[in-house]
Amino acid sequence: MILKPFLREGVMSLPITFISTVSVDGIRNIAPWSCIMPILRPLDLICAASAHKRDTLRNIRDTGEFVINLPGIQLANKVIPTAKPIPPEADEFAFSGLDEKKSELIKAPGIAGCYAWMECKLVTLYEETHYVLIVGQVVRLEICDDVLTPDGTLDLSKAQPLMMTSLRKGMNFCTVHEINHFEPFSAMFEDGNDPLAKKYDC
Ligand SMILES: Cc1cc2nc3c(=O)[nH]c(=O)nc-3n(C[C@H](O)[C@H](O)[C@H](O)COP(=O)(O)O)c2cc1C
Repeated sequence: MILKPFLREGVMSLPITFISTVSVDGIRNIAPWSCIMPILRPLDLICAASAHKRDTLRNIRDTGEFVINLPGIQLANKVIPTAKPIPPEADEFAFSGLDEKKSELIKAPGIAGCYAWMECKLVTLYEETHYVLIVGQVVRLEICDDVLTPDGTLDLSKAQPLMMTSLRKGMNFCTVHEINHFEPFSAMFEDGNDPLAKKYDC
């Protein structure tokens, strides 16, 4: 079967994140965001694709700051309230019943109840006719200790990252689970030596 554009999204699971920003007038904004990707390793730069008509984009353009919040499945019921096109003068934390988690390095607050928070500063905007690519630098990434295994990696059974696939007429919220198949990065190299190995001991 060949899939036409509006049926294609469902073949790829996407993360559901929330981007929180604040306007120059101090109005707090939240929007769910799925078209998001790290720019290579390590996770220093991140790219978010935006439509032009977004309060989020305007706030990022005006203030140069945003937080990418990573929710677990327990926040699935906050996706629609934060996706609604409410007026820019309305506080979306209050509207959606979410509490803020103060950021350390930027003014834009994060969202309490998420399991990780990326405080980002705008690096550049790639403006195209139908979209804008927002590139930010992750200046601070905090993760909740409760979702880490004793060796400091993400415990999927505890974090239960909120994801989605799309169906014909909507979004199918889901999460990811282990398949008990681990490969070290070194396995990608001919000689079995990962040139970045020393970087992981910090
Ligand atoms: C699950 C989900 C993911 C979304 N991902 C994006 C996205 O990646 N880029 C985008 O421009 N809009 C995305 N949207 C739409 C915005 O969240 C929505 O238009 C929102 O009202 C924008 O709010 P704002 O105007 O306060 O920025 C998404 C919506 C949902 C429900």
